[in-house]
Amino acid sequence: MKIAVAGTGYVGLVTGVCLAENGHEVTCVDVDEAKIALMNQGISPIYEDGLEELMQKNKQRLCYTTDYMQAYSTADVIFIGVGTPEKRDGSANLKYVYSVADQIAENVVKDCVVVVKSTVPIGTNDRLEVYFEERVRAGIRVFVASNPEFLAQGTAVKDTLYPSRIIIGTEEDFVANILKKVYQDFSAPLLITNRKSAEMIKYASNDFLALKISYINEIANLCELVGADIEDVATGMGFDSRIGNKFLHAGIGYGGSCFPKDTKALHWFANFHDYEMKTIKAAIEVNDNQKLRMIKKARKFYRELKGLTISVLGLTFKPGTDDLREAPSLVNIPILMDEECKIQAWDPVGSENFKKRFPEGIVYCDTIEEALTNSDLCMIFTDWEEIKRLDVHKYSEYMRKPIVIDGRNCYHLEQFEDTDIIYDSVGRRIVNGAHSIGYGVM
Ligand code: UDX
Repeated sequence: MKIAVAGTGYVGLVTGVCLAENGHEVTCVDVDEAKIALMNQGISPIYEDGLEELMQKNKQRLCYTTDYMQAYSTADVIFIGVGTPEKRDGSANLKYVYSVADQIAENVVKDCVVVVKSTVPIGTNDRLEVYFEERVRAGIRVFVASNPEFLAQGTAVKDTLYPSRIIIGTEEDFVANILKKVYQDFSAPLLITNRKSAEMIKYASNDFLALKISYINEIANLCELVGADIEDVATGMGFDSRIGNKFLHAGIGYGGSCFPKDTKALHWFANFHDYEMKTIKAAIEVNDNQKLRMIKKARKFYRELKGLTISVLGLTFKPGTDDLREAPSLVNIPILMDEECKIQAWDPVGSENFKKRFPEGIVYCDTIEEALTNSDLCMIFTDWEEIKRLDVHKYSEYMRKPIVIDGRNCYHLEQFEDTDIIYDSVGRRIVNGAHSIGYGVM
């Protein structure tokens, strides 16, 4: 099948490449000429495991272009995979979706199906179909279907090639059949529903996961107060298949391109319909507070943070990606900078992007050891494997005062038992905390 994909971000590019892997002729369209030039050299503009290999393997079936006229006028199916970022008021910004819709409307010369993969508020697909009706040439019909994407960054290729489910939102049988044909070689449960339900499935899924994380984070905070251990608590809960053992990892809060924006967007959307989603509101509030707990903990060890040297391990919102969107580091590091701390940061892939936002005021280190050298406190924001594998004795070997505040529970408590390192993690007892008086004013 001849497919065009609008947008070459995580959703668009990965979708396009995986559809090519399944035998379709795919044209990936973007307005960004620099990105297109990179992809034409076989280079992926995003860091995603296995993506460049698939781009290379399927290069005969893949084309990258800014020429949307050609792409949209010849395609049987056009996927929209552009971003729907957050507006200031929390609602979803649909300007990129509508800008692609305008380009499609101007250029289609035959009936076609437009498939919306971008996460859009409930009712958008219906409105888009009317939008096309009002704009395309006489005699042509553009059918709109919803087909939400559930990929996670870092595992995007795997998640797309082997999806947990394929959701098709359409009221037209023949459109459903076209999409079934697109996905005929994928093995996954398939649900065909109406467009609004498909759009809702996406928000309901993401927001449920965000809620689950905020819930376990609150339980972790309570564990700290009463002396319970969140790792054991989560393991114990996870044996119940109704709860499940995934997404029960307590930490300093969720980030990324989806959970923060999709929780706010659904909350805004419900409010717009005069309905207050109390659970989602709570998930958002808990997450905002969770991100600030590291600084509060730091102040337990040092009443004054001013002038301290702080090691920062991990900058990205999670491992396996160079994406910084809504990363807890972005909230905490400016506070440390305001306190005139000397920041020594290490991240295996995120430093370049961080440097673009903060070119001054941070020492970007090539090794973890360099970041730890002569520091007064270490904060771990991302659970990179390199951090988890580190011999913990290095904290006392390199740091001036070995205090580690771990926002991702990278280690077992026992690893710190016979050391002089103060280890303060999430939802667990502080190891060697009794010595902390010696370091500052509690
Ligand atoms: C998420 C969804 O998983 C995906 O299905 C959806 O399509 C897009 O949003 P992503 O944002 O790439 O994907 O990452 P994910 O692995 O879900 O992690 C999101 C955030 O939650 C990260 O900051 C991560 O550290 C945090 N998280 C995740 C936790 O704090 N605890 C957990 O148990 C799981």
